[in-house]
Amino acid sequence: MKSLKKKILEEGRVLSDQVLKVDSFLNHQIDPAFMQEIGKEFAERFASVGITKILTLESSGIAPSVMAGLEMNVPVIFARKRKSLTMTEGLLTASVYSFTKQETSEISISKKYLNTDDCVLIIDDFLANGQAALALIQLAEEAGAKVAGLGIVIEKSFQEGRKLVEKKGFWVESLARILSLGNGQVTFINE
Ligand code: G4P
Ligand code: NA
Ligand code: NA
Repeated sequence: MKSLKKKILEEGRVLSDQVLKVDSFLNHQIDPAFMQEIGKEFAERFASVGITKILTLESSGIAPSVMAGLEMNVPVIFARKRKSLTMTEGLLTASVYSFTKQETSEISISKKYLNTDDCVLIIDDFLANGQAALALIQLAEEAGAKVAGLGIVIEKSFQEGRKLVEKKGFWVESLARILSLGNGQVTFINE
């Protein structure tokens, strides 16, 4: 997605060989008009597969997911990272190991909002090592839903995430694919 790559080059900051900061439009401040373009792009790419729900993870996955959900006219469910006061019954839970943070955490959804008739699109802001994506797939499958594919805003292609998810047979669409963050520069995979 050309406009996203442009935005990353203009506003992103390379913090290290591994980490890109995009706080101005994705991870802290949100650019709603631009986020709507992202939603439209996901809707186009996944138009033909009969998506009934979008599943994401709080917090940064929510904005792109809501815009895609608006465009596709389907509900959006976000997995929670903390136990909710009111969401206590019928929970499905998966563990996520973060290599970045070197810690395991639990994410959960309520069974109530996904069922065997659902065809799910999983959306997230970043695909790095794929652990969050795999946990979201696990939650959808435990609910008996079918996972149609994964929509990622920014893929760090030099990490393992895409490989792991594709090895399990899932379709991944990333709007920007980063080959390298070496030398303080963002280099994209040309496509
Ligand atoms: P993984 O799920 O793919 O294995 O990713 P990892 O554990 O490495 O990521 C932990 C958190 O860091 C996730 O956000 C993920 O989106 C984010 N992240 C990973 N790489 C980058 C990067 O290069 N730049 C930025 N900006 N974020 C990155 P999170 O903790 O779930 O936070 P949030 O959703 O509340 O933003
Ligand atoms: Na994030
Ligand atoms: Na995220």
